[in-house]
Amino acid sequence: MSLEGKVAVVTGSTRGIGRAIALALIDQGIAVVISSRRQHDVDRAVKECRRREKGKVAGLACDVREYRQVQRLMDFAVREFGGLDILVNNAGVSTTASVADLKPEEWQEIIDTNLTGVFYCCHEAIPKMRSRGGGYIINIGSLAGANAHPTMAAYNASKFGLLGFSEALFQEIRYDGIRVSHIMPGSVETDFSAGGTDRSGWAILPEHIADMVVYLLKSPPRTMSTRIEMRPAKPRRR
Ligand SMILES: NC(=O)c1ccc[n+]([C@@H]2O[C@H](COP(=O)([O-])OP(=O)(O)OC[C@H]3O[C@@H](n4cnc5c(N)ncnc54)[C@H](OP(=O)(O)O)[C@@H]3O)[C@@H](O)[C@H]2O)c1
Repeated sequence: MSLEGKVAVVTGSTRGIGRAIALALIDQGIAVVISSRRQHDVDRAVKECRRREKGKVAGLACDVREYRQVQRLMDFAVREFGGLDILVNNAGVSTTASVADLKPEEWQEIIDTNLTGVFYCCHEAIPKMRSRGGGYIINIGSLAGANAHPTMAAYNASKFGLLGFSEALFQEIRYDGIRVSHIMPGSVETDFSAGGTDRSGWAILPEHIADMVVYLLKSPPRTMSTRIEMRPAKPRRR
């Protein structure tokens, strides 16, 4: 299936997994809106993406925790490129601390970004996709959305919640021609975790997640892969 000419918003796309997804979509000829919290990071990422051969790119700063900013982002996509077909909810944050030590504002930031932000984005994107006759929403969850770990209660809660959200959502909007997939990666080589990811060669690369996103977008429209667990094939032995 050709993706040429489709329009996508990728949240949190100035670095890491989101950046890799944005680049992969641009290479498919998709017009991509890049976004994260700071405009200068967005401008830098847009400049980098414009060096690709195909696709179009534009960018706008958006903190997904702020509903008005999310509204502006989705309207921006329509203004720049004429509509919205694909939303990749990738922006995410984490921290590790026991429940007793975790500050209430850290809890709030994780839940607001990883869960409420996805609701805001879907809430704004769905009517725009309906008006195009369909679309695709891909949520970047985590294996931590199905496996709990000590010191990760806030992150676990946000990603377990996101899994439930995705699964309710696909049932709600499938008859509008909007597909929903939920990718649950294990460790990916980015600067996501406070201590940085182990770069000794076993972790998933951001490009591998991007390949999965393209694969899903190209999958037969009669099918919908709802929950994808992506593990490192050979994680470091404990
Ligand atoms: N890396 C892993 O091992 C791993 C594993 C499983 C799942 N994931 C998930 O994959 C996603 C991407 O992670 P990553 O590893 O690529 O992390 P990353 O390198 O830290 O990138 C996160 C991106 O999200 C943006 N962001 C953070 N808070 C935001 C907010 N409130 N509004 C808008 N953008 C925001 C960041 O930009 P600013 O901070 O500059 O705004 C950045 O562009 C996350 O949802 C994460 O939970 C990661």
